[in-house]
Amino acid sequence: MRSFKRILVTSALPYANGPLHIGHLAGAYLSADIYVRFQRLMGKDILFVCGSDEHGAAITIKAMKEGLTPEEVVNKYHALFEKTFKGIGISFDIYHRTSAELHHLTSQEFFNKLYQNGEFEEKETAQYYDEKAGRFLADRYIMGTCPKCGNEDAYGDQCEKCGSSLSPTDLINPKSTLTGEKPVLKNTTHWYLPLDKYENWLKEWIETGKLDGEQLHDPAEWKNHVLGQCKSWLDGGLQPRAMTRDLDWGVDVPHNIPGHEGKKLYVWMDAPIGYISATKQWALEHGKDWKLYWQDKDTALIHFIGKDNIVFHCLIFPAILKAHGDYILPYNVPANQFMNLEGRKISTSKNWAIWVHEYLDEMPDKQDELRYTMIKNMPELKDSEFTWKAYQDANNNELVNNLANFINRVLVLTHKYFEGKVPSFDEDVDFAGPEDQYESTFHETELIRIFDDIHLMADHIRAFDFRSALKTVMDISTKGNQILQFNEPWKNFKEDPDQVAAVLNLCLQYLAALSIIIRPFLPFTSDKLRQLLNTDPILEKGELEAMLEDLSEGRVLIPAGRKLQSPVHLFTRIDDQIIQTQIDKLMATDAVEPTGDDHHSFEPVKDEITYEDFMKMDIRSATIVGAERIPKADKLLKLTLDLGFEERTVVSGIAEHFSPEEVVGKRVSLLANLAPRKLRGVESKGMILMAENSDGKLSFVSPDNSTENGRTIK
Ligand code: MF3
Ligand code: ZN
Repeated sequence: MRSFKRILVTSALPYANGPLHIGHLAGAYLSADIYVRFQRLMGKDILFVCGSDEHGAAITIKAMKEGLTPEEVVNKYHALFEKTFKGIGISFDIYHRTSAELHHLTSQEFFNKLYQNGEFEEKETAQYYDEKAGRFLADRYIMGTCPKCGNEDAYGDQCEKCGSSLSPTDLINPKSTLTGEKPVLKNTTHWYLPLDKYENWLKEWIETGKLDGEQLHDPAEWKNHVLGQCKSWLDGGLQPRAMTRDLDWGVDVPHNIPGHEGKKLYVWMDAPIGYISATKQWALEHGKDWKLYWQDKDTALIHFIGKDNIVFHCLIFPAILKAHGDYILPYNVPANQFMNLEGRKISTSKNWAIWVHEYLDEMPDKQDELRYTMIKNMPELKDSEFTWKAYQDANNNELVNNLANFINRVLVLTHKYFEGKVPSFDEDVDFAGPEDQYESTFHETELIRIFDDIHLMADHIRAFDFRSALKTVMDISTKGNQILQFNEPWKNFKEDPDQVAAVLNLCLQYLAALSIIIRPFLPFTSDKLRQLLNTDPILEKGELEAMLEDLSEGRVLIPAGRKLQSPVHLFTRIDDQIIQTQIDKLMATDAVEPTGDDHHSFEPVKDEITYEDFMKMDIRSATIVGAERIPKADKLLKLTLDLGFEERTVVSGIAEHFSPEEVVGKRVSLLANLAPRKLRGVESKGMILMAENSDGKLSFVSPDNSTENGRTIK
């Protein structure tokens, strides 16, 4: 990235219609937080804004489902978001909200400017109207079949299966989600942004970084999947897009505009302007000039988002900004892909998720453990996966065995041999390096090596490659451990105390460096390590920049004579039982799809599999011959199945639907070769196939009685 005077970082405003799960974190928040903390440590002028997205059908649909008003819904989730983000250490400079008056005013001003500039096309079109409900239907209130992929469960604005952006009239067999009726077309007037007219400059700007002959960004720095998505939109041809809606929840179309009655701004017009109103609010509170961050060419604007938001941030919002005329365009949009969970797509409606606020409650003081695993598996370039096992392994093998172990050993040895004080040492003392190639200048050479590694980490962060950056940091810790291992100070003190002093001094320099460079990733641990070293708390005001300068000029990072705190373990092993409890919790929600949520709609068809994939499943007919409840597990029944050639125990999450008495004798279909798993201490071998109707009621998929137990279903 060329050098800018300041950087403005935004993270997608989350819809205030449900709690945050790890997929949200992985998408837009953790990556931004790492980037911002790093730049702050480098002494950059950087501002990090976010807030709750409180308008649009996402909110009103939730309110309808929960029997709450939209205000109640957004207040509830806005408060939860603030707490959750803080809890997991996302260091926004401001967390704002789009229901704030300042936001309404800001987006109305924006709309007015576009209106005055003559950018909008006013068009009367026929829109879907639900006669039974007596209202126009927002895109999200209409569902039907996607014309591109045949998914029967596409929304009026987007097909979540194939990712196509749609308009409601594209849908085959549209239905109102309010009443289930087929909507009728009725005329209404809206203001459109003529994206088709902007297509040429958008294309040039995305693909070359140039606009009106000026080089604004470098496409080589953009992620391929982001460029790819933009290109495919552009190749498909852009259509004018309505910037207003017939709704009763949202930002009013400014009242000076004739025909404004009953119209609100389109949520994708107002939400990104939320970044601007958040900046204004922050500037008000800090006596700063917001315009520098939005209207000065020396600002790099960077949007952190998930891949489902690419078109809005790379095409539509830039078009809005340019139509206004006074604003800069994003310098980069390092969108992440999706993070799956235990082999499946994260799904709010199916409760297949790790909710961040629940994690914080259930795993207190383990924020960095989650951050670490998520960063390690961040879906930067392709979809990735979170598993509890990987979380446990990352904690036990890397955080405990490598990082915490290094910190602990150094402190223990310093207390043992030097009364807990950083030892002074003789420059000329000789000791072994990992490759045994250093002699008297070893101490200095090693510090230079850290210096190189930190630069490598910095380059990775600047390239939005946070996985590699984290790896580089952990490699520094590994090298620290190697220095201990090679010199074995615990053996040599009697013979060669000078050497031990030099080794420990070097290791303490490592710790001082680590306390700063782990901070973007593991901020809680950074604080704790600083305390152990009795070093100033980090304010993220250029500490890394200062440290690099110290290193380059051969200054030590922690002075000899500094008294250190008593050693503690900064990470501890997480045992199987804790992991199993989390897996059980997830599996229990999986076994019973929760009711009352999304049953009126159809699940999207899953990703294509091959015939060979299908043939891997071994499904058998069976009969339930025994059933009992499992103590303290409301949802689970322990079932005994007759498979003809054997009897098996299967734990099934159907206890809220069936009593043990009523299931005995039922014929069932069993996925017989599913890997066994333990649920509440009972080993379950296989899964019973269940059908679910639109009310969430379950029924068995039963072969008829002519099929004996144990026969294959194919
Ligand atoms: N609320 C949107 C979502 O969760 C993101 C809005 S980003 C913004 O998908 F730019 F509009 F703010
Ligand atoms: Zn589709």
